[in-house]
Amino acid sequence: MAKFKSKWICQNCGYESFSYLGKCPDCGRFSTFIEEVVQEKTEVKSKNSSLNFVNLDSLKYTKIKDVKTDDSIRIKSGMEELDRVLGGGFVEGSLCLLAGDPGIGKSTLILQSANNIAKQGKKILYICAEESTSQVKLRAKRLNADNENIYVTQQNCLEEITKQIEELKPDFLVVDSIQSVFSAQIVSSIGSISQIRECTNILMRIAKQYNVTTIIIGHVTKEGNIAGPKVLEHMVDCVLNFEGEKYKTTRILRGIKNRFGAVFEVGVFNMEDSGLVEIKNPSELFLSDRENIMTSGSTVIAALEGTRCLLLEVQALTGVSPYPNPRRVARGVEYDRLLQILAVLEKRVGLNLSRSDVYINVIGGIDIIEPAADLSIALAVLTSAKDCIINHKTICLGEIGLNGEIRSVDNLEARLKEAQKLGFERAIIPKINNKTVLERIKKIDIKTYEVSKIPDAIKFIDSHPC
Ligand SMILES: Nc1ncnc2c1ncn2[C@@H]1O[C@H](COP(=O)(O)OP(=O)(O)O)[C@@H](O)[C@H]1O
Ligand SMILES: [Mg+2]
Ligand SMILES: [Zn+2]
Repeated sequence: MAKFKSKWICQNCGYESFSYLGKCPDCGRFSTFIEEVVQEKTEVKSKNSSLNFVNLDSLKYTKIKDVKTDDSIRIKSGMEELDRVLGGGFVEGSLCLLAGDPGIGKSTLILQSANNIAKQGKKILYICAEESTSQVKLRAKRLNADNENIYVTQQNCLEEITKQIEELKPDFLVVDSIQSVFSAQIVSSIGSISQIRECTNILMRIAKQYNVTTIIIGHVTKEGNIAGPKVLEHMVDCVLNFEGEKYKTTRILRGIKNRFGAVFEVGVFNMEDSGLVEIKNPSELFLSDRENIMTSGSTVIAALEGTRCLLLEVQALTGVSPYPNPRRVARGVEYDRLLQILAVLEKRVGLNLSRSDVYINVIGGIDIIEPAADLSIALAVLTSAKDCIINHKTICLGEIGLNGEIRSVDNLEARLKEAQKLGFERAIIPKINNKTVLERIKKIDIKTYEVSKIPDAIKFIDSHPC
């Protein structure tokens, strides 16, 4: 007889405990534990022999140079922005997780690309686990994405899905969404961590065994009350995050993990009535409102997002705080990073912000994670505090050390080229010690000002009024 055990599982990270815990010792979240009934592992194995896809031949060892490879074939999604994030298209037989808030446009993105793939003569099976087939059809009609090679099925039992895959033998499988799929072999309720983990495991094995390129869609919620796709990240080949601001139509697709390409690649889309439209030159879009507004506290950075360079505006607002504890708000930059930059400004430049509120915002809803943005942030804060304007055809690049020194940034050449392409005339950059870099940069038609300390950058601002 199958043995059942009750366990408490953190719905955010999958940490298991035998009793309820208020705070997860692993991910640190509160109130994320839910009781799940779990079947003993040994029983699951013996009962599920039909789902045991281990091929005994694969257990033999061979020399690595004798291993046959069919250079992973890429399936182009027909959307350049998506292909870039994937590293050149979907790899055949891989499993990719697309995560994002509900309503952000995940189903739309996948349906549009599935339609493009269907046009190439590939068979697609779309599992509608949370919507009805007619709802999906309505969307497909609106997006003009109802190619005859797309098959839909309203099914959320994994065993039934497996049968349909064996019968139809699709080239491409979409599971929308993984939170609505359940395996009859697992006792836990639908959407629980145990279910999601096991279903993904089985889908992964199916993908490899039948060489079906699979996309699974997963919702994430900030409250963490739906089992988060976080636990799946290490299992799947590729994780894409679809992000965007609630009241804006710009959507950003970000590669978080990719076994077949670079990570942190970014794709930019606009959500329109007819579906998602690719934005080929996002810098133009992000800077489009800037020309006419010449205010203090605005700088531009050429940020590297994966292999692409994006020009982004960093805005700062400082002012005497009405609160006993002045506020620091960071949107698009790390909060701790902002605090560190403020501390450096205070100590090295004597800028006193202890009674001021400081707000930082990166326009366009993109998060800048790289330290190369430090100088942009610092100069935005400085110019806001001093109420002066930095010449608007200038970009700022550089990491700031705790001593107030400006440190070098990677790929300076690519960043300067992008800035020059978009009409920027000057760049404040860290001191270059590498001769070859210096030679190459000289060829770019942009005036560079090398600075080694924050006060040097301030001197530049003072001597280049708008
Ligand atoms: N009839 C419509 N016209 C224009 N946009 C729509 C329409 N219906 C839905 N949308 C857009 O599509 C979004 C939902 O996309 P969807 O792909 O279903 O999201 P998800 O799968 O991530 O939950 C909505 O937030 C809305 O912006
Ligand atoms: Mg959806
Ligand atoms: Zn946890």
